[in-house]
Amino acid sequence: MTISGEQTKQLLEAAAAVRRHAHAPYSNFPVGAAVLDDQGRIHVGCNVENSSYPQGTCAEAAAIGAMVASGGKRIRAILVTAEGEGLCTPCGACRQRISEHAEDATPVLVAQGDRVRATFTLEQLLPHSFGPENLGR
Ligand code: THU
Repeated sequence: MTISGEQTKQLLEAAAAVRRHAHAPYSNFPVGAAVLDDQGRIHVGCNVENSSYPQGTCAEAAAIGAMVASGGKRIRAILVTAEGEGLCTPCGACRQRISEHAEDATPVLVAQGDRVRATFTLEQLLPHSFGPENLGR
């Protein structure tokens, strides 16, 4: 499963824009995420931290929530953007969140600024996953 160069550019721009709204005063690590859904629409989210640290939420969780809230069913691609030397791949919990709405081959793009640094399939990030099929769905 691949997405077009134009779609990649739109995801990059959307994620960079929403990252500016991140509420990350504790980690100083703002993150933006953009999801391309099954209808070709883009949904965005940023991390929202909390003074009660465990209550903070990741950018990916927010973007997936926005997709579901607006009627999107499946993730065609997801892009995460942050600054820093290390690749900002989705955390373990967010890999599971993505998998609920995606396929093994769904692209997960990791970006910084205006460029994609790496592209993974969901299966590369979350092999042998537990999913809806385990529950007969
Ligand atoms: N964070 C995300 O929003 N997404 C990721 O993929 C990695 C981490 C957030 C959580 C927390 O607000 C901050 O980055 C530092 O961990």
